[in-house]
Amino acid sequence: MSAPATTEKPFHLQGNFAPVTEEVTGTDLPVEGAIPPELSGLYVRQSANPVTGTSPHWFMGEGMVHGVRLEAGRAAWYRNRYVKTPYLENPDVQRISNEGVIDRTVSKANTHVLKHGGKILALEEGSFPYVLDDQLETVGWTDYDGKLTSAFSAHPKICPVTGEMLSFGYGQFEPYLVYLRVSPDGKLVQSEEITVTGPTMMHDFAVSEKHALFLDLPVVFSLEDALKGTMPFRWSDDYPARIGVMPRTGGNADVKWFDVEPCYIFHTLNAWDEGNTVVLDACHNTEVWRSAGDMQGEGKLTLRRFRFDLETGNAKEETLDDRPMEFPRVAAGVVGQKNRYGFTLRLDTGSDEPEFVGVLKSDLQTGKSELHDYGAGRNSSEPVFVTAQGADPNSDEGWVMSYVYDEGSGKSELVVLDATDMAKAPVARVTLPQRVPYGFHGSWIPDSE
Ligand SMILES: [Fe+2]
Repeated sequence: MSAPATTEKPFHLQGNFAPVTEEVTGTDLPVEGAIPPELSGLYVRQSANPVTGTSPHWFMGEGMVHGVRLEAGRAAWYRNRYVKTPYLENPDVQRISNEGVIDRTVSKANTHVLKHGGKILALEEGSFPYVLDDQLETVGWTDYDGKLTSAFSAHPKICPVTGEMLSFGYGQFEPYLVYLRVSPDGKLVQSEEITVTGPTMMHDFAVSEKHALFLDLPVVFSLEDALKGTMPFRWSDDYPARIGVMPRTGGNADVKWFDVEPCYIFHTLNAWDEGNTVVLDACHNTEVWRSAGDMQGEGKLTLRRFRFDLETGNAKEETLDDRPMEFPRVAAGVVGQKNRYGFTLRLDTGSDEPEFVGVLKSDLQTGKSELHDYGAGRNSSEPVFVTAQGADPNSDEGWVMSYVYDEGSGKSELVVLDATDMAKAPVARVTLPQRVPYGFHGSWIPDSE
C-alpha cells in the first residue's frame, strides 16, 4: 500500500502516513456522483501530523483535523488545520514538571474529534479536550470550568437516550482511572476515582444504557520506555486481564470485575444490557506490544463478544469473526443499545504497518458481512456510518463516509457509500485539494447538532 519501510524512516513517516506541511482551504470541491442532499454538516477526522516532520511513533505527532463541509448536495469546503496546542509553538515543550506535575493543557490533541454540549472537541487521552470552532480553528483547551482534574479519554461515548457524554481519564500516576460523566449541555457532573490494578493503558471503554465498562488489561506504563521518549507502554504477563461493569451513576464500590482471557482491546464496537447480562463487542488482540510499542502483529486480532452475568459473576467470551478488523463504528443512535450492524476497517496484519483492505459491514444478527473494496491502491481510513434521515437507527439505511487515498494519483477523496449495498460504486466522491494522511478517528457533525 505504500513504499516499504526502510531503516531510515518508520512506516508512519512514509507514503500516505507521512505528514502534510500546509494548512489548505479549498471551496466548491469537484464531486463525482451525487452527494445526498440531506447530508448537511461537517465530516471531520483527526490525524497525527508531526509539526517537525518526524515523530518516534505513529500516535505521537501533533493533531491535525481534516474537514469537509457538505450542504445541499455540494461540497462547500475542505480545510485542514493543526489544533493549536503548545507543541506548535515549541515542539519540545515539557508537559511534566520536575516535581512530576502533569500540565494537561499540553496536548497532542490528535486522536478523535466530535461534538458534544455545543462544542467541537479535539481529544487525546492524556490531556484536556481542545475546543474548535466550526471553521476548525482552535478556540482553546477546556477543563470544564475547573472541574476536570484528570486526563480525558479520546473515546467518550455519547448516549443517544440521555444526551450525556460518558468518559474517563487514565494516567501513569494515581489515580490510575477516573470515570467522568458530562451532562447534555456540557457540564462535568460526576468524577469518580476507580481502582484498577495499576497504570494500564485504557485507550477505550464502552457504555450500555445502564452501565459503564472499564478495560483493565495487561498493557501497562513502562518508565524505561518513557525515558527513551517512545511509546511508554508494554505488554505484561504479570498484570491481570479484567473488565469492570459499573452502573453509569455509580462509583468505585459498585464496580463488578470479571476476569477475562489475557488480551488487549484498543477499540470497542458497542455494549448493551440484556436483563442481568451486559454484552460487549470489541476488536480483540490476544497480545500486543510485548517487545516494542509498534504496530507489529504479535497476537491475533478478531471481533469478539463478551457476556458479563451480573448475577452469577461469570464471564463468557466467543469469537464473532476471526478476520482482523479495527476502527469499529456503529450508528450514533445505537450507542449503548443492542446494535445489528457494525462497520470496521478490514486489515491485513502481520507486517510492520497496518494494511487496509476495505470497509466491512458486519450484520451481527445474521453473521453475514459485506466488504467494500475501494480498488487497487485505494485505501480508506476509519469509516463513519451516518443513519439516513428518518430511518431506524438500528437499520443499515444510511451512508458510510471516509477519506480514501489513491496511491496511483497521490490524491485523496471523501467517499460516500450507500450502506445498504456495500458492493455498489460510491454514491459520491469528493476530490480534495490535497492528500489527507491516514489518521485516526472522526465524526459526521450534522447541522442539526
Ligand atoms: Fe482510538
